[in-house]
This record gives sequence, C-alpha cells and structure tokens, in this order.
Amino acid sequence: MYKIAVAGTGYVGLVAGVCFAEVGHQVTCVDIDEKKVDVMKSGVSPIFEAGLEELMQKNYVAGRIDYTTDYKSAYKDADAIFIGVGTPEQPDGSANLSYIATVARQIAENIEKDCLVVVKSTVPVGTNDKVEQFINDFLVNDVKVEVASNPEFLAQGSAVHDTLHAERIIIGTESKWAEGILKQIYEPFGLPIVSVNRRSAEMIKYASNDFLALKISYMNDIANLCELVGADIQDVAKGMSFDQRIGSKFLNAGIGYGGSCFPKDTKALEYLAKQNGYELKTVKAAIEVNTEQKTKLFSKARKRLITFSGLKVAVLGLTFKPGTDDLREAASLENVPLLLEQGANIYAFDPVGAKNFARVYPEGTNGRGSITYVENIEEALDGANVCFVFTEWGEVKALTPETYKKLMWTPLVYDGRNIYDVGEMEEAGVEYYSIGRKPALREGKKESRNIGLQTVKS
Ligand code: UGA
Repeated sequence: MYKIAVAGTGYVGLVAGVCFAEVGHQVTCVDIDEKKVDVMKSGVSPIFEAGLEELMQKNYVAGRIDYTTDYKSAYKDADAIFIGVGTPEQPDGSANLSYIATVARQIAENIEKDCLVVVKSTVPVGTNDKVEQFINDFLVNDVKVEVASNPEFLAQGSAVHDTLHAERIIIGTESKWAEGILKQIYEPFGLPIVSVNRRSAEMIKYASNDFLALKISYMNDIANLCELVGADIQDVAKGMSFDQRIGSKFLNAGIGYGGSCFPKDTKALEYLAKQNGYELKTVKAAIEVNTEQKTKLFSKARKRLITFSGLKVAVLGLTFKPGTDDLREAASLENVPLLLEQGANIYAFDPVGAKNFARVYPEGTNGRGSITYVENIEEALDGANVCFVFTEWGEVKALTPETYKKLMWTPLVYDGRNIYDVGEMEEAGVEYYSIGRKPALREGKKESRNIGLQTVKS
C-alpha cells in the first residue's frame, strides 16, 4: 500500500485517485476549488461518469480516499504524487503548462521525504524533464525526488472501466528506483505494463490519440468520397474491419471528432513538430478534415432549405459523444451559432448536456433566432421543419422513422452519426441525409410539403 497524493480532480486526477483507492492505496486528492472539495467529500462526483460516484463513496467510507485543498499536508509525506491538472490548448495550438508548473513548485516547497512525482496529464515531449528541473530548482528539504511519466488512456463515459481494465499501463522512467515504485503501485491492477523512458512515454500518449483522430478523419474523408461515387461508408468500414491489421474500432464516419483530447492533442503535436522544424503532414490533414466535417451537414441543409429563418429546428444531442455532459469541441457548438445566425428557432434535446449548453446559449431569443431546451425528444420534433442529430444518445437511436414522419411538419433529417437505416427511413417517407451514405430520397421521388423557400416536387 502506497501513500498517494493526486493533484487536480478533473477526469484524469479524480478517476486515477479513486481507482488507486479501489485497489488498496491510501489516496488524498488535492484541488484548489473549495466548493468542489466539499462536494466530493459529500460523496458527489463533480463529473458525470458511470460508476465513479459509487467508488468515491465506497472508498471514502473505507477511509482510503480523502479530498482537500490543503496541498501542503497532502504532499509532505506522500510516497508518490500524481499530477493530473489540465494542460489547456493555447491560441497557437501549444499546451499551457502553467498549472503543472505551479503544482511542481508546490511539491518542491513542501515534500519532506523521498518522493516520486508522476505526470499523468498529457504533456508535450520533454515536459517531464522540465518538471524535474523545476522541482529541483525550488526544493526546500534534502530529499530525493524523481519525475516519471504515466499517461492515461481513459475515454470519457467509460473512465472507471478504462482505468481498472486498461489495455496497457505506460510508465516512462529514468531510473530503476522510479520504475520499481510505479510497477508496485500498478501491481494490484494486474494489467500489462510497458516500461519505457520518459520521452517515449510522453510520445506514446500523443501518438496514440493522434492515430485514433487520424483514423476517424480518414474514414470521414473516404465517407465524403463515398457520397460522390455512390458507395456506402458503413459497408466499406465493415469490409475493412475484417482485416485485423485495420481492426473494427474507430471506423465510424460522422460529424467529426470532438472532446477535450483529440482536437487539443492533434494541434499540440503539430505544434511540437513545427517547433522542431518538422511538418507533421498526416496529423495536419486529420485536423483539416475534421474542421470541415463539423459543418458539412449544415451546409447541405442550407443548400436544401436556402434559409433557416423562422423554421423550427430540432437539435438532438449537444455533447461531443454520449455518456458525458462534456461539450468541449462538440459539433453542436459549431452548428448552433450558424443556425441562430440564420434565424432558426432551435428546440434542443440532450439528456445530460443541456444544462451546460444553456450556460453558453441561454434559453430564449438569441440574435435572429431562439433556443429552447426540451426534456423529451417528441417536444423537439413536434412540428419541426428540420432535425439535426449531433450525438448518438440511446434515446435518439431508439427513435423510429415513423416517429419522425408522424411528428415533424416536414420529415427532413440530417444525421451526423449515421444511426438510422437509410432504407427504413426512406420506407417511412423521411427525407434523410447522413454521412457517406446515399441520400434516402432523391428530389422528386416522394411527396413533400413546402420547406422554407424551396419546394420538393412530387
Ligand atoms: C480519447 C481516447 O479515446 C482515450 O483513449 C484517451 O485517453 C482520451 O481521449 C484522452 O486523451 O484523455 P475521449 O475524448 O473521451 O477519449 O473520447 P472518444 O471516445 O475517443 O471519442 C472522441 C471523439 O471521436 C468523439 O467526438 C466521438 O464521437 C468521435 N468518434 C469516435 C468518431 O467520430 N468515430 C469513431 O469511430 C470513434
């Protein structure tokens, strides 16, 4: 059992802390936000994450985890301190390391015994060296400190599961001492450990995330071509997936990747390459494809409708993916302002993300348009002229084509997640557009009402 302190209680820090406690370590989670600390002490998770709250409560009651703003007492006698604070993107694409630097200094000024400092946050290659240098610069007591890299690979929505059942643990160390401690901390997890040097560990994190981002952008690129040549991206993906070298995961074409990781990490690696006089062409292309992908459906719909002014627009899903209330880099954030600018009356549904979205776009009139948040999908669809699907929530997937047909004034659906069967939508009389698949209805094929300025002829 190790005495572990965790700096930062965002996704990375809190989930790591709770999982360390779950396998038997003694954990103190540190955060500067007093309110948040009180909330966590009361057994409530500050983030929406399946299974997290239960483990927080269980381990708090068992006395294996505590939360505090008092970093001095948390750090002073810890065997290991994990840093999980944010590294937000700066306007030039580089990572902002000021939170890490602050924590490093606090550690240096307060530790009273030998300690391993472990950077869990995603940081550019070489940052661990800097953190070690920084700690040594400010070190007060005569103790041994070393810095190790231990990137995390959890995905939001399945964070606890991803941590307890990770496919691999990456540890990047520069000494046997550091390697030994990290191996022992992770021993109770019973997972494969890949031990490399610090810089390689830092690179593994970026290379993995950017590879996944690239995979998605590649499928989106191919999907766009599929549309032009009459192929179907889902059939193409299925055919590709049988090749084990390609694999079956992350082949879903759609409205582009979002979240707090892929957009930030692709830009950060591109920036790192540039700083080193190298052009990372593949990653650059992934970023470009993704940027264009996010408004593809809006452009299509605009061509079809000419204007959204005065139309009731149903927006289903606001978060960057299901299972989270996180809106960072979500497609909704790109499309909603475009719709409002055009004078759309938006009726938005999201089972958990609406509250966060309302902070950015409060309910009511907004510019030329308006936005209303509804608690059930039917309310959004009732009498709507057009519907956009931005997130594949279970509730949205469960909708039948008949529901669209029955409730909407004009059953015109733009699906950014390819969740419905093209044939079934067509059968039900829904005019359905998705990504990389044939539009269900060709103009002039079936009867339709007037939509905006454009009429679809029967
Ligand atoms: C991602 C990685 O999956 C994790 O392994 C990593 O640890 C994490 O970033 C991180 O660096 O912290 P996350 O951002 O939570 O996790 O979400 P993903 O499930 O990877 O989805 C990211 C985006 O890609 C979502 O917008 C999703 O809709 C999109 N996506 C995913 C697709 O468009 N197509 C796919 O086939 C898969």
